[in-house]
Amino acid sequence: MDGKSPQSANLDEALAAIRRGEAIGLPTETVYGLAADAHDPEAVKRIYALKGRPSEHPLIVHVADAVTASRWAGAWPKAAEALAEAFWPGPLTLILPRAANVPDEVTGGQDTVGLRVPAHPLALALLRAFEGGLAAPSANRFGHLSPTTAQHVRDEFGSAVPLVLDGGACEVGLESTIVDLSGESPRILRPGKISRPEIEAVIGPVAEGSDGDSPRASGTLASHYAPKAGVEVLARAPLVARYYELAKRGRQVAALLRGQPFKDLKSEVLPSDLAGYSQQLYAALRRLDAKGYDVLLAELPPHTAAWAAVNDRLRRAAAPRDADGT
Ligand code: TXA
Ligand code: MG
Repeated sequence: MDGKSPQSANLDEALAAIRRGEAIGLPTETVYGLAADAHDPEAVKRIYALKGRPSEHPLIVHVADAVTASRWAGAWPKAAEALAEAFWPGPLTLILPRAANVPDEVTGGQDTVGLRVPAHPLALALLRAFEGGLAAPSANRFGHLSPTTAQHVRDEFGSAVPLVLDGGACEVGLESTIVDLSGESPRILRPGKISRPEIEAVIGPVAEGSDGDSPRASGTLASHYAPKAGVEVLARAPLVARYYELAKRGRQVAALLRGQPFKDLKSEVLPSDLAGYSQQLYAALRRLDAKGYDVLLAELPPHTAAWAAVNDRLRRAAAPRDADGT
C-alpha cells in the first residue's frame, strides 16, 4: 500500500496520461468528456480521430477557474466576468475571441474559443493539478448521445480510450448552456441547465439560436444527440394512440414517459421534475436503444424556458437522421 486512496491514484494516472498526450474519459457535472491537453495539437487531433468528428467543429477548453479562462481569451468583457462569477464552476460555456496562442486544432480554425470551468470535483482536481486547459468534447462518437456514466464511455470507445476517470453518474445529465459573447450582442447557441432567464438576470437580454452562420456548434446540427431508433415526441394521449398503431403494424416500439407509467406500454419512466428528468434522459435512451426498439415515442415535456434544453435535445433526437449524415 502506498497510502493513497484509489481516487488520488487514478488522478495521478490521469494526469500522467494527459501529460503523455493521451485522451482520457473525464467526468463533468454535465456529461463525460474526452479530454486532452489543449495546448498539444497532436493530442487534440487524437480526440477528433476517436470521435470521428469533422475537424472544423471547435472543442471546449476546460480550465480550473475564471482567471485561467481569461488567459485563453483574447478579450474578457464585463459580461464574461459577470457570468463566470454567477455560474462557474458550472454548466456554462462562454464563446470569446481567442488568445493568439490557442491552437487552430482546438478552435477549428475560428477566431473564437469556447471556455468552461466544470463543477465536478474530479475534473476540478485534475485541472488544478494540470494547471493547463483540457480540450474536451462530449465522449461519444459524432452524432451519438452524450455519455452520462463512465460505463457509457467504455461502451462507446472500449480499449481505444483505456483510461476513464469514474466520477459516478453526471449530476446535470445534459450538455452545458453555450453563450456566445464574441459577437455584437450575446447569444445562446445551445440551451442547457442554466436557462435564458437566469442568464438574462445577470447580463440583460440575449438572443437565442444559431445566427445562420456555418455549423459552428455541432450540437446545433438538426440531427444530433440521436439514439439509433427513430424518435417521435408526442403528448400522452396521441402517444398512446400512436404506440398501439405502430405495435399493430409489427414495429418494435417503446415509450419514454414522464412521471407516470401507462398500462402495459413497454416504457422507461423518467421523473416528472426537471432535474431528475434531465439527469436520466440519456441513460434511458441508451437503455431503450440497447433493447433494439426501432421507434421510441417520447412524451412531450412542458414548454417553458426552464425545460428548453430538454425540448431541444428531444427535438434533435427526433430530427431526420440523414440531415447531416450521422
Ligand atoms: O457540457 C458540455 O459542454 C460538455 C462537457 C464535456 O463539458 N462538452 C460538450 O462538448 O458538450 P461538445 O464538443 O460535444 O459540444 C460543444 C459544442 C459543440 O457543438 C461545438 O461546436 C461548440 O460547443 N463550440 C465549441 N467552441 C466553439 C466556438 N468557438 N464557437 C462556437 N461553438 C463552439
Ligand atoms: Mg457533443
